[in-house]
Amino acid sequence: MFSLLINSASAAKWLPAPATKLAEEVDQLIYFLVEISVLSSLLVIGGFVYFSIRFRRKSEKDKPPAITHNYLLEFLWSFIPFLIFMFVFGWGWLLYDKMRDHPKEALEIHVYGQMWNWDFVYKNGKKSSGILTVPVNKPVKLIMSSRDVIHSFFIPSFRIKQDVLPGSYTALSFTASKKGKFPVFCTELCGAGHSSMLATVHVMELEEWEKWLAKNPYKGMSLAQIGGSVFQKSCTACHTVTTEKRIGPGLAGLFGTKREFEKGEAKVADENYIRESILNPSTRIVKGYGNLMTPFAGLLTEEEMTGLVEYIKSLNSSP
Ligand code: CUA
Repeated sequence: MFSLLINSASAAKWLPAPATKLAEEVDQLIYFLVEISVLSSLLVIGGFVYFSIRFRRKSEKDKPPAITHNYLLEFLWSFIPFLIFMFVFGWGWLLYDKMRDHPKEALEIHVYGQMWNWDFVYKNGKKSSGILTVPVNKPVKLIMSSRDVIHSFFIPSFRIKQDVLPGSYTALSFTASKKGKFPVFCTELCGAGHSSMLATVHVMELEEWEKWLAKNPYKGMSLAQIGGSVFQKSCTACHTVTTEKRIGPGLAGLFGTKREFEKGEAKVADENYIRESILNPSTRIVKGYGNLMTPFAGLLTEEEMTGLVEYIKSLNSSP
């Protein structure tokens, strides 16, 4: 009765709707914990209030009997909670064990975290940034590592989370049971852009996914459009397309202007300068900014690199 009440009232509001079978099972444990906590609070506080009133001192002659102990009661108030805690422990253990199970037949996808975005690399060499695309009802194993500091990959709708470390692999497995788009957060404070280190899991039908996997994402797009699409996925945590500063400079009107550097020299922002600033940003740091950007050397195809240059150039002509 109680559980029905809480489950129906809260399932939608407290937590994002579960999108894997495991997430539903995790929720059952969470709701059980909430229910039993509410129930025991009511019992303790209710009992406290009731006994305070029922046995309050009514006259000077009221003298309570001197009770020192009661073995049966003491045993029960220790043993019953012990059973409840062991039950919760066992339940949690079984769930955790399931969560750490990486099915052999799972589809493996590599995940790279870096300040401050996520890249995904599939077995056929296809890469994507910011959007992890997976088929529904198929076990997926993420093999994850970081290109700089410690990050943490968290998919709230799947109720799973795992730290992502530089220099070694960690893994996370899931089987999405619902199609749709689900947010991913970084949950390890990893620097100034941490809160915008987001991604999306896009779950689709297997056939649709296979088509997506085989497709060239930039077919039919102009270079500037390719650059714009890379920008949206990888750059918005730090750069705007206006003149507004964020962690890095705003990019509108930047191309062709003179840039002054921390070391004192200056240079006009031409194609080669933009390229260098993206691939190896620490070579020249513009005055007033920190050496904070991820080097994109090795992370972009030549087409994407040129696309970004053209996109930044195009920002000068738009209003
Ligand atoms: Cu990456 Cu926080």
